[in-house]
Formats: sequence, structure tokens, C-alpha cells
Amino acid sequence: MRKTGIALLFGLISSVAYAGECTVDAEATASMAFNLKEIVISKKCTEVTINLKNSGTMAKNIMGHNLVISKASDMQAVLMDGSAAGLDNNYVKVNDARVVVNTKVIGGGESASVKFNLSKVKVSDSYMFFCSFPGHAGVMKGNVKFM
Ligand code: CO
Repeated sequence: MRKTGIALLFGLISSVAYAGECTVDAEATASMAFNLKEIVISKKCTEVTINLKNSGTMAKNIMGHNLVISKASDMQAVLMDGSAAGLDNNYVKVNDARVVVNTKVIGGGESASVKFNLSKVKVSDSYMFFCSFPGHAGVMKGNVKFM
């Protein structure tokens, strides 16, 4: 019984990124999904590193992915402006103050890393992570929690 409980616990943890060391390792897949449903960041972090890997094979203009974090309430506006900004701007409006952090758009087999300072967020607010490649955020999104 105890072993089953532990296995179940690991099963739950595997779909959540715990940034115990203030680093989040996320993967975007060929099937237009993130491997994480939720990102949990410790409030004790000063600086957070986001590592994104695109495990697909398609070029970035076809099935590229990025990882953007904003307040949940800003997400739709960030996406609209990001779509207008185009791939050359990684589908993020230049100097968008609503964006906490974003990676560049990467194609299959590529990786990207970005860092942000925790002072950029208000940990009591609701934040989301998402891919701003047009049409992706409907499924490529999840909550960012600060615990
Ligand atoms: Co995407």
C-alpha cells in the first residue's frame, strides 16, 4: 500500500514544475502542448531561470513555440499584440510591460533560456504561462503559482 502511495505522488509531481532551485525546465512537444500543466515557483527565489526545449521537429515558422509569463488578466491582450508583432518579434510586442518574461520562439530540436527577477511579479496575483505562437495558447497554457 505504501509503495502505491509513493508512486501516485510521483505521478502527480511529474506534471508540475517545482522550482526548488529556482529553475523551471519546460518542454514544448510536437503535438502542440507543454509537458507541464502548472509551474510552481518558490517565493524564496530571487532570480528564476526558465529553460524551454522544443522536442518537435518542425521549423519555428510552422510549429514554433515560446514560453511567455504574464498576469492571467493580461494574457489575451498580450496574445493579440503578440500576434500582430509577428515571428520576427517572437510573437511578443516589443517592450510589452505586461510580459514578465518570454523566451524567443524556437523550432524543433532547439532550446532557449531566460531569467527574470521575482521582484517583477506580485506573488499574490494570478499569473499564466503560455505559448504566444498564434493559435497555440488555447491549449499551450497553465497557471504559474508562487508558493
Ligand atoms: Co506553441
